[in-house]
Amino acid sequence: MSKREDPMLLTAERLFAVEGLVTIVTGAASGLGLAISRTMAANGADLILVDRNETELRRIGEEIIPGAEIATVDVADPDAIRRTVDDVIARKGRLDVMFANAGISGGAGIRLPQGHIENVDFAAWNDVIAINQTGAFATIQAAARHMKAQRGGRIVVTASVGGLRGSAATAYAYAAAKAAVVNLVRQAALELATFDVQVNAIAPGFFRTGLGGGRLLDEAATAPLHAMVPMNRLGIPDEIAGVSLLLASPAASYITGSVFTVDGGITAA
Ligand SMILES: NC(=O)c1ccc[n+]([C@@H]2O[C@H](COP(=O)([O-])OP(=O)(O)OC[C@H]3O[C@@H](n4cnc5c(N)ncnc54)[C@H](O)[C@@H]3O)[C@@H](O)[C@H]2O)c1
Repeated sequence: MSKREDPMLLTAERLFAVEGLVTIVTGAASGLGLAISRTMAANGADLILVDRNETELRRIGEEIIPGAEIATVDVADPDAIRRTVDDVIARKGRLDVMFANAGISGGAGIRLPQGHIENVDFAAWNDVIAINQTGAFATIQAAARHMKAQRGGRIVVTASVGGLRGSAATAYAYAAAKAAVVNLVRQAALELATFDVQVNAIAPGFFRTGLGGGRLLDEAATAPLHAMVPMNRLGIPDEIAGVSLLLASPAASYITGSVFTVDGGITAA
């Protein structure tokens, strides 16, 4: 009987097995990246947590996910993320999963005067593109080089529903960068498909994280967002856990180039 026909593979334990997988998560010190990291750690992955916030990263490596390695890296620096991945390969011999998750807020959406087109500031624009777009690509590239050579791996990129359609809550730079990331995922999925390297995106809706300096954690400030969500609430970070585990696991063996919305129904409208 071939491995694929083995009925035991259909147990949740086998379908979602990630134990021992060498896994890097960027933006691991907060919000969705932390939830992804906790999920992978809870299921036995061999984790390297990457973030530019060294203080928070250290705290998480000591208190929340003890045993996880940490690396302070700015993903907007392609050489830095490449060196980090090369170092993991040198020490562990392989990289199985890369979560390219680090990102920043684009600031005010177009529903607010500060977000109107005439007020877009190019210094802020450049920061968002450097981290959310170039940083995501640099992270994909750093992982793909090795995954191609080892003929296997998973890359999961945190995009956004703000990259899938226009929205009053989204800033121009954020909309541009996240749309770019969605198509970078498809592009990389095509090139890497025959190398058994699968590349997918998660597109979250609104989640209660530290994005944007804590505005999303503020009940009153986020009340107007509820009306934009069919489920009438924001997501909590752990609600990203299931799809992240899926995309890293054997259950996703035939999934590549896909975008998974986790948005309480926003994009169904
Ligand atoms: N929270 C939401 O509503 C939402 C919605 C859609 C998409 N996203 C995306 O989810 C991802 C995670 O964001 P979050 O909501 O958890 O926010 P967050 O601010 O809670 O966490 C982001 C983490 O990324 C780190 N980071 C930022 N820039 C970095 C850089 N240049 N190099 C390394 N680390 C960096 C931060 O220090 C922080 O720890 C981002 O890509 C964001 O765009 C979030």
